[in-house]
Amino acid sequence: MSPSRDVGSHQPIVVRQMNFDFPDDIDPVVVAGNPEESYLMIGLSLLLPHLEPYLIRTMKEAKKFVKDEKLIDDLERFSAQEGQHYRQHMRFNDSIKLQGFPELEGLEKTLSDDYKRFSKTRSLRFNLAYAEGFEALTTASARFSFERPADQETLPAVSDLFAWHLLEELEHRTVAFDIYDHVCGGYFYRVVAGLYAQWHMSSFIGRVTRYMLKADPAAIERCGGKEGARARRQKAVPELRKHFLPKWLKTYLPSYTPHDIPFEAELEEMATQYSALARSTR
Ligand SMILES: [Fe+2]
Ligand SMILES: [Fe+2]
Repeated sequence: MSPSRDVGSHQPIVVRQMNFDFPDDIDPVVVAGNPEESYLMIGLSLLLPHLEPYLIRTMKEAKKFVKDEKLIDDLERFSAQEGQHYRQHMRFNDSIKLQGFPELEGLEKTLSDDYKRFSKTRSLRFNLAYAEGFEALTTASARFSFERPADQETLPAVSDLFAWHLLEELEHRTVAFDIYDHVCGGYFYRVVAGLYAQWHMSSFIGRVTRYMLKADPAAIERCGGKEGARARRQKAVPELRKHFLPKWLKTYLPSYTPHDIPFEAELEEMATQYSALARSTR
């Protein structure tokens, strides 16, 4: 086991039961004037009810090999948080599916089959490295998202759903890393399987985004047509290159450990706010 686990970056992993509501007539362009980012968020949201149960299955299997009591508590809290995440995302996804987009079902079915196959046929080491691939990416994404200037108007319930989820991803950012390290370990394997995981997830999100853009050309027209899309791309690419890419690349360094990422005072404040909004916490 790596000594990195002892670096002091651990704050409580709070399991919050939330209750987000989404309108039956929701506009899928949830980020005002930005269909590309809206559909990317929807792609991520559609991924989660398949991915997060797979993470929970993986952790259940890994638990048999974990001897450390603190790590078992972390693992259980990780799984309980992930269980809440995908249930809330399903509520959002159901509202989106009421607006049409019939081919989403087929895309989800393929993804769901992949995760069932991974649980059945791949090694625990692969499944844990996949889990850490997702967690390293969400940790980098959460930090990017919270540092980003709030200059886009997102539907409040959707904004809250993602902020709550990303906050909890930061709360449990060390768990998959520690469990992989404790049960299997190995830097190169983690990096290679993690890259595969990130490619696998991004491919699904990309397919959803492209399909939704194609299925609803009126949304693009409403948002400035091809010129508008080009302007949004020209704004997003340098922002991603400057503020997201370094955080993501760092997760591939041999020295990377999520224990070194601080949980700042603003995050503590946000955690308190979401605990107050929750139906229950534990
Ligand atoms: Fe999650
Ligand atoms: Fe997570």
